Amino acid sequence: MNDRRQPASAAGPIPPEARDANLALWNRWTRAHEKSDFYDVQGFKAGATSLLPLELEELGPYVREGTTLLHLQCHFGLDTLSWARRGAEVVGLDFSDEAIALARRLAEETGLSGRAEFVCADLYDADAHLDGRLFDVVFVSWGAIEWLPDLERWAGIVARHLQPGGTFYMAEIHPFAYALEEGPGEQDVQITYRLLPAPDRPDVEPVEGSYADPDADTSGLVSYGWQHSLAEIVGTLVGAGLRLEHLHEFPTSPAPFWSWMIRDEQRWWWLPDGKGGRRRDLPFSYSLRASKPADDGAPGEAAPAGGAGPADEKA
Ligand SMILES: C[S@@+](CC[C@H](N)C(=O)[O-])C[C@H]1O[C@@H](n2cnc3c(N)ncnc32)[C@H](O)[C@@H]1O
Repeated sequence: MNDRRQPASAAGPIPPEARDANLALWNRWTRAHEKSDFYDVQGFKAGATSLLPLELEELGPYVREGTTLLHLQCHFGLDTLSWARRGAEVVGLDFSDEAIALARRLAEETGLSGRAEFVCADLYDADAHLDGRLFDVVFVSWGAIEWLPDLERWAGIVARHLQPGGTFYMAEIHPFAYALEEGPGEQDVQITYRLLPAPDRPDVEPVEGSYADPDADTSGLVSYGWQHSLAEIVGTLVGAGLRLEHLHEFPTSPAPFWSWMIRDEQRWWWLPDGKGGRRRDLPFSYSLRASKPADDGAPGEAAPAGGAGPADEKA
């Protein structure tokens, strides 16, 4: 599974040139991210969680000792291993061989390899690699689905690997934020990019640095990304048989879009309002929880047995 010459996914919807470009990018970014302050690998090794308070608050009550958790597009596994530290039996999947190799090393170094498994595979090949395994929780976070052209297939994978009664949770960058660019004024934004999906028209961009390290060497690298809409995201999950439990929107991002955004003590990045405060009128992220109905058709557990319900239900 660590073969660096992975063939392009034979049946997958990602064009081979897009997949090759994104794989080269994520391998290069992994090297930069391991050393970045943003990911703070030393802090993680010393015991800190990489999960944001939002994720701990909203998904934490569903993850307890022995919960099985599948993390799709896990990067180099810090979040996956942070759930393992809370007692979960985790599987992380990502197509970057360098990220998966680092995740396995970190699992060994932190004594978590007994409860953490990492699979190197394209998202669209997940079924073949997971071999019918079902999980209590499927988890997706921050900057994952923009690399995928076909959300219907993605949602099918999520639903097929959830136990009946299981929980899907994702925390992601808001589609609206991807449509923005810096405006002509000082510290201002304008809508420039598409807001509706176009699976056959990826955004192809030269890469400059990384969200985690603006100075990362990315010379010669290009990214292929796909815009998705909230209706598409929710619609594909519901279409795959999941029941929406919450959808929350936030004016904050877990990473800066522009250097002039402001970071708070909870590691959120805000747009400044130009008057010394923070803008609260534009969505930069969202979180979503959905359940897979139990075999008898009953809704998934609203609150996990033996655990507290989520503290703050907003929608
Ligand atoms: C921004 S990261 C996910 C963020 C993660 N929550 C974190 O910050 O650690 C996106 C991940 O998607 C992975 N990825 C992109 N395209 C993929 C594909 N086709 N199949 C599997 N993984 C993919 C990349 O390798 C990368 O690790």
